[in-house]
Amino acid sequence: MERKKITPVDIQEMKRAGKKITMLTAYDYPMALLEDRAGIDIILVGDSVGMVVLGYENTIPVTMDEMIHHTRAVARATKRALVVGDMPYFSFHLSAEETVRNASRFLKEGGAAAVKIEGASRKRLKLVEAMVEAEIPVMGHVGLTPQSIHHLGRYRVKGTGAEEARRIVDDAANLEKAGAFAVVLESMPVEVAASVTRTLKIPTIGIGAGPACDGQVLVFHDMAGFSVGYLPKFVKKYADLHGVMSGAVGAYAKDVREGRFPDNTTSYHLKPDAAAEFATKREGEPKGRAKK
Ligand code: KIV
Repeated sequence: MERKKITPVDIQEMKRAGKKITMLTAYDYPMALLEDRAGIDIILVGDSVGMVVLGYENTIPVTMDEMIHHTRAVARATKRALVVGDMPYFSFHLSAEETVRNASRFLKEGGAAAVKIEGASRKRLKLVEAMVEAEIPVMGHVGLTPQSIHHLGRYRVKGTGAEEARRIVDDAANLEKAGAFAVVLESMPVEVAASVTRTLKIPTIGIGAGPACDGQVLVFHDMAGFSVGYLPKFVKKYADLHGVMSGAVGAYAKDVREGRFPDNTTSYHLKPDAAAEFATKREGEPKGRAKK
């Protein structure tokens, strides 16, 4: 397998060459190591970390410091994949200056090579331009933007009506014009995602957006069956990690309770000649606490 680090330019080249782009989220060292070794092209340190790892109800509470902490762990494990850091809620809402400063932390402190930002309002597009101007590769994100949860009321499929569908097409095109190197299309009809993918020169990465996208992304915990509770319709579960790991934890607890662990094979012993000396010294030890 090729070990050269993948760049945003390589990702764009994959679209031109008709090669599907693989992207998954990761939040820590072992997860990133296995995804990188499996040949995943882009590892997204998503703000979904807030929900699947940190136990928040949604992604709103996730902070820059939490994102940097997880991005550093992922970057340390990654030799080949492009690492993208997800700009958390309110890290890009006040000014272009603060946005660029926060985005630069992903590169300087986190070891990522790009950032992702949700939304494509006129103000958001200016922020994308400002980050690109600061040499920070930016991935856009349109359709369902989970950071808009309080505005939306609930997570829902976007663009099922003609007007909202047209807005998604325009938003994606505007992100391309603003300099984004790729765009995530989340929770939308396949027809809308196909139209965006045909129209744009930059690659589209779908999540719940059908097969026409240039690439696909899923949250690792969802696709590996590690998440508990509700899963959106678009998730395909490739394993039952929760079941496997629950089984392991249960078997460990049973072994400890019933005296089967640790056993001889998982225990250390004195060297043979030290055993006799240790036993003798022990016998001669004064009872109680030794005086100084
Ligand atoms: O935070 C995340 O994991 C994401 C993906 C779902 C695209 O934004």
